[in-house]
Amino acid sequence: MNKRNIIVSGIQPSGELHIGNYLGALKNFVKLQAEDYECTFFIADLHSMTIDYDPKEKAKQTMDLVLDYLAAGLDPEKSTIYIQSQVPVCTELAWIFNTVTPVAELERMTQFKDKAQKHTQNINVGLLDYPVLMAADILINRGNVIPVGQDQFQHVELTRKIARYFNNRFGQIFEEPKEVITNTPKIMSLADPTKKMSKSHGPKSYIAINDSPETIANKMKKAVSTTEYDKAVYDFYATLLEEFGSEENRKYFTTQFKEKDIKFSELKKALAEDIAEYFKPFREKRAELEKDPQYVREILKTGAARAEAKAQETMKEVRKKIGLL
Ligand code: ADP
Ligand code: TRP
Repeated sequence: MNKRNIIVSGIQPSGELHIGNYLGALKNFVKLQAEDYECTFFIADLHSMTIDYDPKEKAKQTMDLVLDYLAAGLDPEKSTIYIQSQVPVCTELAWIFNTVTPVAELERMTQFKDKAQKHTQNINVGLLDYPVLMAADILINRGNVIPVGQDQFQHVELTRKIARYFNNRFGQIFEEPKEVITNTPKIMSLADPTKKMSKSHGPKSYIAINDSPETIANKMKKAVSTTEYDKAVYDFYATLLEEFGSEENRKYFTTQFKEKDIKFSELKKALAEDIAEYFKPFREKRAELEKDPQYVREILKTGAARAEAKAQETMKEVRKKIGLL
């Protein structure tokens, strides 16, 4: 039997979506959706609570990300799209997984260590437990192919272990999922090409996919440049050029790259224009969707109902295996 692969992934609503998130995750979601997979994409709002946040902003951030998903091309006819907290049974599975996951496995997660170091005032249990909830998101949906950026590979690896711990303890239910890598799993920051582009480093370090052409031009103007050859800087711009550059600009600047003699002001201006052009259809579609919140709410309602039905099927098997009445 040729089993259909099940794609599952999510992004946290914790600020604007940037071109790193796009190239590392969302672009791949849209591509996979067009292939012969069963696809589920959700908004990981519960995960985003593990870092200090303003409750007044969360609903907007969540809705913004839904609009980003849809405007980028995720299609509710082809993919199940939902908000994590609207299918709360995943937290029940996370609790069950907590009982088979060694604390030591969580303590060695790179992202936990980084975030704990950065947010010393709020090292909450959720921050440590975050990968267990992620494992629940994946396995409750029976996901076996997980498109994520490089920073999430370790969490998918842990999901495999959790599937194994569960299966060994209670009997075989879960398949071990694999991550899928994009061509661009790590886009660097505009301000420092040795660090990854991230919402958490502030808006100057990234280009949001919904930024206006003027904002993109301003941010690019202030982005790194160098008077001497610096591999990190060159690689950073080469990647952006490859992904977003017009054919003409790619040809023109490739010669400058080869000769290691880049005119940065010229390159940054051209790139800003190409990035703005690349995301023009996205901005237009997003503006349309923004005018129709009822349509968007319907999509989310249908998505949550579909995800809930599937999750309950998994949970029925799980509850039976673990001995709950
Ligand atoms: P951020 O670091 O900006 O808060 P998230 O942790 O919310 O980003 O990541 C959302 C998705 O985007 C994940 O799949 C992650 O792997 C991917 N991602 C995040 N930053 C980058 C980047 N700089 N390059 C490529 N992919 C990225
Ligand atoms: N932790 C992921 C991130 O920060 C988001 C996420 C939550 C996720 N659950 C997931 C990604 C399940 C893939 C599969 O980007």
